[in-house]
Amino acid sequence: MNITLWPDTATIHNGHLHLGGCDVTTLAAEHGTPLYLFDEATLRGTMRAYQAAFARFYEGETRIHYASKALLNTAIAQLVAQEGLGLDVVSGTELLVARRAGLPMAHVHMHGNAKTRTELERAVDWDIGAVVVDNLDELEQLAALTVGRAEPQGVLLRLAPNIQANTHAHIATGSADSKFGLPLAALDAAAERLLDAPGLRLLGLHAHIGSQLFEESSIRATVHVLLDMAARLRLRHGLAVEELSPGGGLGVPYTAEMPASNIEAYAEAVATSMYDGEHLTQGWPLPRLTVEPGRSIVARAGVAIYSVIATKRSVAKIGDGRLATHANSGNLQSAIYNLQYLHVDGGMADNLRPALYGARYTALLANKADAPATQTVHVAGRYCESGDVLLRDAPLPPAAPGDLLAVAVAGAYTLSMASNYNMVPRPAVLLLRDGQARLIQRRETEEDLLARDVELT
Ligand SMILES: Cc1ncc(COP(=O)(O)O)c(C=O)c1O
Repeated sequence: MNITLWPDTATIHNGHLHLGGCDVTTLAAEHGTPLYLFDEATLRGTMRAYQAAFARFYEGETRIHYASKALLNTAIAQLVAQEGLGLDVVSGTELLVARRAGLPMAHVHMHGNAKTRTELERAVDWDIGAVVVDNLDELEQLAALTVGRAEPQGVLLRLAPNIQANTHAHIATGSADSKFGLPLAALDAAAERLLDAPGLRLLGLHAHIGSQLFEESSIRATVHVLLDMAARLRLRHGLAVEELSPGGGLGVPYTAEMPASNIEAYAEAVATSMYDGEHLTQGWPLPRLTVEPGRSIVARAGVAIYSVIATKRSVAKIGDGRLATHANSGNLQSAIYNLQYLHVDGGMADNLRPALYGARYTALLANKADAPATQTVHVAGRYCESGDVLLRDAPLPPAAPGDLLAVAVAGAYTLSMASNYNMVPRPAVLLLRDGQARLIQRRETEEDLLARDVELT
């Protein structure tokens, strides 16, 4: 078992996968599948690793905010609060969950390129630490909403820093033409508007160039743009910037070939870049640093468990798209049936990433965890889309209906993007620690799904 891909507590006993001291086959029997399992030790350990790494490399104050879009439920938000992290939210309901979990509102930032008026009102009424303003219209609306406030609402300005991250286009967010953030040329206009908005207080600048980042150079470049723009705000507009946030984005491996997730190296790259700006030569104080990891905190802590429903042998294609046949005649009578499908009871509705951008995963059979992987299979989801294939060419032991498939690194951008496609209820979620499994999200029921449906009378 590759330890960079499975939770810290993952072990194999008598052929069964164990997580958090619990036998996964027992959990599946008790709670059904699909089932999402989260290892509390891995979650807490990763949060602590972030705090320790930044404390080591940065002399100024650092705040670690968990980016809740990766996965949010009340229990995860409670762990975040207990570990002393802050939270980034992107909607009014995520903000509600933060409050329900007891997170100090001062440690909550609200993001989004299209926050509604109701969401902005809630953010302001609940005194959150900062609204991360995406565009000039939002700034205008927020300025109007906060007229007459006793305490000004803190804001960060999100910039589009014009940095092309080396990641999939769907998760790159830093280019000049990105839908996210103010173009650098609009910074002066934003500064002038802020100076004329007594209900708002500029705390600082933010940029997030994308997710699944492994290259230090683009992370350093982001910090450098933030420092340059902070100097511009001070020199041109007399605005002191006390906080800089280069977002989140540290990558994680999903397969054995991918590089490891290196929190230390990431913290070192971000923190040491913070010393490159003019503030040191000018004698300005070191800004507070806020980083927003999502995926790297929650991805490896989560494992998805599916039941194999059926298996199927099918005809493989050869390189040029023709059918693989004995005589290469291309007809189905002589086709070579060597493509093996495992059909499982979940798929793109609980994990959209493979269908959305070709994401790859690693899996094993939780009830035959030490059996040798002697075949290569495609794991097909149950949903009615040909693109609903969770894994392609996955090495696995021979599998049969009833076997349990465990997919690693399934914690981030899976359940948080889940849908009810084909009207299938969403999975249950358990938090595991020291042999105890706590239900933190019950399985959705048919009644839940039909509760919104209104019959014609
Ligand atoms: C503004 C912002 N901050 C932080 C994150 C978290 O990124 P990741 O989950 O890659 O760490 C995102 C995700 O896209 C984001 O948009």
